[in-house]
Amino acid sequence: MRTALITGASRGLGKALAQALAERGWRLVIDARGATDLQEVADELSARTDVVAVAGDVSDERHRKALIDAVGGGRLDLLVNNASLLGPSPQPKLADYDVDVLERVYDVNVFGPLRLTQLALPLLRASAGHILNVTSDAAVEGYEGWGGYGSSKAAFEQWSRVLAAEEPAVRVWWVDPGDMNTRMHQEAFPGEDISDRQPPEGVVPALLELIDRDPPSGRYQAASFVTAGATT
Ligand SMILES: NC(=O)c1ccc[n+]([C@@H]2O[C@H](COP(=O)([O-])OP(=O)(O)OC[C@H]3O[C@@H](n4cnc5c(N)ncnc54)[C@H](OP(=O)(O)O)[C@@H]3O)[C@@H](O)[C@H]2O)c1
Repeated sequence: MRTALITGASRGLGKALAQALAERGWRLVIDARGATDLQEVADELSARTDVVAVAGDVSDERHRKALIDAVGGGRLDLLVNNASLLGPSPQPKLADYDVDVLERVYDVNVFGPLRLTQLALPLLRASAGHILNVTSDAAVEGYEGWGGYGSSKAAFEQWSRVLAAEEPAVRVWWVDPGDMNTRMHQEAFPGEDISDRQPPEGVVPALLELIDRDPPSGRYQAASFVTAGATT
């Protein structure tokens, strides 16, 4: 039985991917800060597979260690760093961005997943495992107002790229899912009708295909599966 650890799996893309992997019989370890919503997802999925839900914040070291403990020292085939923080809504321009708030965005989007990855690496190396880091077009585009979140995703992408070079036994994918109709997207566009964006379930087939095809480490876009610079 393959095992995946997915952060931010109580709603949105993380939940949709967890549902699809449960359908395929993967064992799952999932997290989110909100314990009630997370437990609801775990209850739903436990009808199909073995699920361990650990509520907590990816920026908290004790929680990250609890996630690794929940994997249980066995196989870890896939780590999905999906949980993320947009920051203030509406997003401020860089000239006005409170750097203490930005530090919190980096804690969740850059340092938390890096530290979780460090803790997971021994298991991933032993299982010839994979890391799927969920990034954004904001990491590479200069959209007005997206300097905080976007620069955190750029840092997230760059450590993914370097990790891929440093860890040949582990495959590292950083994937831009495209726009999705989720709570985070609504926060990014407060007051706007975002119902024309695809539901997160629409992105899942591309992620499953990525897992099945098992391409080299690199940056991928879910919409087109265009790889921008595979690294191995
Ligand atoms: N939606 C888009 O259009 C879009 C576009 C490009 C990239 N992305 C990326 O796609 C990924 C998924 O986003 P989404 O749109 O599905 O967001 P979402 O619907 O808001 O879901 C976010 C999930 O992460 C959890 N979470 C948030 N902060 C957390 C933390 N500090 N520790 C642990 N869990 C945390 C949330 O639960 P709690 O709040 O209970 O913790 C929730 O389960 C993110 O990496 C995002 O940057 C999204």
